[in-house]
Amino acid sequence: MNNQDNGTEQVWTQAQSGPFRVLVVEDEELMRAIIVQLLRREGYEIFEASAADAALQIFEREKIDLAILDLNLSGGGSGLDLLGKMHELDPEVMGVIVTAYASIESAVEALRQGAYDYITKPFANDHLKAVVRKALEYKAAFRENRFLRRELREKYRFESIIGNCDAIDQVFRVMEKVARTDSSVLITGESGTGKELVARAIHFSSERANKRFLPINCGALPENLLESELFGYKRGAFTGASQDKVGLLKAADKGTIFFDEIGDMPLALQVKLLRALQERECYPLGSNEPVSFDVRVLCATNKDLDKESREGRFREELLYRINVITITLPALRERKDDIALLANHFLRKYEKPLGRSAMRFSKGAMRVLIGYGWPGNVRELENAVERAAILAETDVIHAHDLPEKLHATTIASAAPETTGMTLEELEREHMRRVLNEVAGDKVKAAQVLGIHLSTLYRKVQRYRLENEGTGQPGVVKPALQHA
Ligand SMILES: Nc1ncnc2c1ncn2[C@@H]1O[C@H](COP(=O)(O)OP(=O)(O)OP(=O)(O)O)[C@@H](O)[C@H]1O
Ligand SMILES: [Mg+2]
Repeated sequence: MNNQDNGTEQVWTQAQSGPFRVLVVEDEELMRAIIVQLLRREGYEIFEASAADAALQIFEREKIDLAILDLNLSGGGSGLDLLGKMHELDPEVMGVIVTAYASIESAVEALRQGAYDYITKPFANDHLKAVVRKALEYKAAFRENRFLRRELREKYRFESIIGNCDAIDQVFRVMEKVARTDSSVLITGESGTGKELVARAIHFSSERANKRFLPINCGALPENLLESELFGYKRGAFTGASQDKVGLLKAADKGTIFFDEIGDMPLALQVKLLRALQERECYPLGSNEPVSFDVRVLCATNKDLDKESREGRFREELLYRINVITITLPALRERKDDIALLANHFLRKYEKPLGRSAMRFSKGAMRVLIGYGWPGNVRELENAVERAAILAETDVIHAHDLPEKLHATTIASAAPETTGMTLEELEREHMRRVLNEVAGDKVKAAQVLGIHLSTLYRKVQRYRLENEGTGQPGVVKPALQHA
């Protein structure tokens, strides 16, 4: 395979424009005419040469996407040598070798030396067309990938992770340390806490940033499919395996593989994966030839893998292997101070495509955001903000622009088990919660409750809430104690 992604990145700013350009190097005039005519009909822009020198001259002058080279050129030199020279000038050019000698050795040598594929004379027209099309598709995908990777690198810097609390600071400190290493990292946390974001940031800050980051969701695929995806397979290994397939472990070579929901990987496969990671090689299905790979392993789970392993659902040895370092992401409700930060961050993100700027949250809206429990964590917050940005009629997002659910929970969490409580009891309970949320700050509490400060003082006295939120032992009015 002509995979020249060695990190010497050239700037690629747009997708392929205009037709692909193909250079045909063939000394037999008739054969050359046939190839040229065939490919021209496919819509490619064609250049042709009968000898190596002439071909190189064209190659230096023109931007060629793909070269079709006869293995034995009569003017001396081989198509493979010529391809080598072309690769020195442009590592991205795709080479297809044409050989009259259907010897498997020369074909294998061609691939080893960086040709994308080979065809043997005589060939079926359709075969030639298919090989060329596949090569160019591969090239386009490869370029696009690299372009995307550059974008991704920008997007997934550490700075893209928002948070100011101690728990997130701690996450950053560990990330900085592990990014520079090749250690396996297990990222744990509830759904939507940013596990994948952290995994990507680690990859894109590591020495492997120029190579692929390949996420694989272990929970989404049935066991046999997951296995063949991971290890690859040989043509004919099972029904439907119509051609060889490179496994993800190999596809991520020199890069990072991210096992998402690793806790959902079936036990039998865990054993195979462990063996592959230890030996740094795996066997594609239907093959006795090991394939070696060099990958960095990042895993994520929202399960308690220690418990899973104690209860026999997760292989202990695999846990040791993937859990060299653990990063635990806090639930959003455990870092309420970050809610405003994150909400504003997402508002900046989502106002832009709406053609707006300087949108903001009303105090009431922010209160709802902070009061909510966020079972879906940052992802849920992000979705809520996006929706509100779209719905808001002015630049200010009001509480009523936020999803209904958020209000319901705010009220519910302010007054759990309210059935049977009097209005007065409810009021006291709500005040108590607010006072705790604002750490006993009476001015803030009055603002949050929307009442005058003097009213607040009166009620605080009446409900004996003087010490709520101040860290002093509170006084519980017997009538308000419920189970
Ligand atoms: N600290 C953060 N700063 C900015 N965006 C964040 C942060 N944490 C999460 N996000 C955003 O929240 C969304 C969910 O994050 P991510 O997909 O990484 O979560 P996850 O933990 O992998 O979730 P799941 O367990 O459901 O797969 C993403 O859009 C991500 O960009
Ligand atoms: Mg995830």
